[in-house]
Amino acid sequence: MEVTFKDVSLSYDGSREILHRLNFTIPEGTLVSILGPSGCGKSTTLMMISGLLAPTSGHIFFGDEDVTKQDALQRKVGMVFQNYALYPHLKVLDNIMFPLKMAKVPKAERREKAIKLAKLVHVDDQLDKKPGSLSGGQQQRVAIARALAKEPSLLLLDEPLSNLDARLRIEMRQEIRRIQQETGVTTIFVTHDQDEALHISDHIMVLNSGKIQQFSSAETLYDNPSNLFIAQFIGEPVINTIDIEDFDDELTDHVDAEILKRAKKVGIRPEALQDHDTGADTLATITTKVKTFEKFGREKNALLDFHGKRLLTTEIEAELAEGQELPLYLQKSGFYLFDQEGTRIFGGDQDVE
Ligand SMILES: Nc1ncnc2c1ncn2[C@@H]1O[C@H](COP(=O)(O)OP(=O)(O)OP(=O)(O)O)[C@@H](O)[C@H]1O
Ligand SMILES: [Mg+2]
Repeated sequence: MEVTFKDVSLSYDGSREILHRLNFTIPEGTLVSILGPSGCGKSTTLMMISGLLAPTSGHIFFGDEDVTKQDALQRKVGMVFQNYALYPHLKVLDNIMFPLKMAKVPKAERREKAIKLAKLVHVDDQLDKKPGSLSGGQQQRVAIARALAKEPSLLLLDEPLSNLDARLRIEMRQEIRRIQQETGVTTIFVTHDQDEALHISDHIMVLNSGKIQQFSSAETLYDNPSNLFIAQFIGEPVINTIDIEDFDDELTDHVDAEILKRAKKVGIRPEALQDHDTGADTLATITTKVKTFEKFGREKNALLDFHGKRLLTTEIEAELAEGQELPLYLQKSGFYLFDQEGTRIFGGDQDVE
């Protein structure tokens, strides 16, 4: 089911607005992540999609239908939360069948459906166990199967993996992707973990302070951040950020004077600082001084001093000595300028949102 928000705003108390005029469309059959720091309004957005919470203003559409006034039951969504919220006294099979029982689906049919779903999420060997004797990952699989039982128009997942350990999180995010692709159900996945969002989604909606910062593919977020927040939020190690005043005249011949005048902040990805000239992509050269140089396995990290500011690079070929001077080739891909408001005005593809 395609979901559209038109000028949706929300205030819990009538005075403080939490979400400000959200406009977006989630395409049918896709997996979209809502990503952002704690308190930015991810769960609130999901609750409005589900129908558990009504917007203060604006309209919500499922396909062409305005569902703003419909409740959660009418919208037929399946939800999974961080705490699995399974019924502890019911066996796995009965947990999955529960929504079907409530919907008065005949016994044989609900059993058949539940077994099929248990197979889909790979818990068909656990059907007679109670939730308490399952691992976290297994419990979350059961919760997903239960959410899918009523063939929902949408599957909504609010940080479903945050109670799991690191390894299981990775396994389960791949599983969620597989299940979504096998069922084709439009899925909206809330997380504050960029790695999770980058790996699982077709598109990512990044929220901050109740506003959509950017809604695009993972690759576009990284290559074409629409603003400084996105540039700093996406990417590991974090992008280097310094003021335009920290440059002398290194950029003068390479960036349009009008743009340089408007620029406030400079963002340089650690891989855009190279100690060797690759030719085509070099934008400018700068001179730095090595502060620290560390090697771990295949990784080489150098912390450099550039006019008194720190820059991190991960792209060193030579062995470096602390204190040595180091000329660097600034690569065009991974170099951005942002204006006073934080909007990207140089670097990346200019016409990408
Ligand atoms: N029931 C509520 N009543 C009043 N304010 C609320 C309520 N629920 C959330 N808020 C506020 O709305 C804002 C957004 O909350 P929300 O739960 O949507 O954030 P979130 O992005 O899901 O955060 P987290 O990553 O911590 O789960 C926060 O400032 C929060 O304090
Ligand atoms: Mg939340």
